[in-house]
Amino acid sequence: MEVRIFNTADEIAVACADIFSELIIKKPECVLGLATGASPVKTYNELIKRYNNGKLSFKEVKTFNLDEYCDLPRDDKNSYYTFMHENLFNSVDIKEENVHILDGNAADADAEAKAFDAAIDKAGGIDIQLLGIGTNGHIGFNEPCDTFSDGTFKVKLTDSTIKSNSIYFENDSMPRYALTMGINSIMKAKKIVLIATGDAKADAIKATIDGEVTPNCPASILQKHPDAILLIDKAAAKLL
Ligand code: F6R
Repeated sequence: MEVRIFNTADEIAVACADIFSELIIKKPECVLGLATGASPVKTYNELIKRYNNGKLSFKEVKTFNLDEYCDLPRDDKNSYYTFMHENLFNSVDIKEENVHILDGNAADADAEAKAFDAAIDKAGGIDIQLLGIGTNGHIGFNEPCDTFSDGTFKVKLTDSTIKSNSIYFENDSMPRYALTMGINSIMKAKKIVLIATGDAKADAIKATIDGEVTPNCPASILQKHPDAILLIDKAAAKLL
């Protein structure tokens, strides 16, 4: 696991966009694993800037998103479908047919999860997976638990995640379940890049880097990945 520490979130965004740009230029038909939340927003802005400057094209790029809430309409302002379109897809030349976001309203969640993993395999696997990290050490919506998950699955969100993400929802309307790539789906990515900024992530980052590999801190599994890079600011690194 490689750890790079930066002064600002803007510097992280440039470094992260550099990693993605290099791949997209070298392999225009690459497969990207993407994340939502606050952490990747500046990176997406940086990628849009490079697209607008004619330095990047997403014409052949395929994407798979980590997760999606259950029981939330796809066009809800808080769905990850909406988030990805507002923060990246609507501003670049990606083809909608190449965008894959789990259907959190699928009648058969297991079938939806299996089809998603199969689509990743069919696309040739994920070249780079982008991750944020929860204050409880979750990646995707793989919450702390007793065993590492395998493929994509339906998960009950923990109180910690509900507390962190409720700020986006009115009147306690945040969904309690989500579909998420499993730990094994994430670990199959050829390269993984995790972004963390701010004091609130310091405990999780310490446990991820210096702690034992345990499903109690799902991100700690990244210690076992052959090509995982953590891009973090000084606040998130303060306990290292
Ligand atoms: C989002 C996701 C989550 C977030 C994490 C951090 O697709 O899978 O694991 O990456 O909750 O969220 P932020 O970046 O908002 O602090």
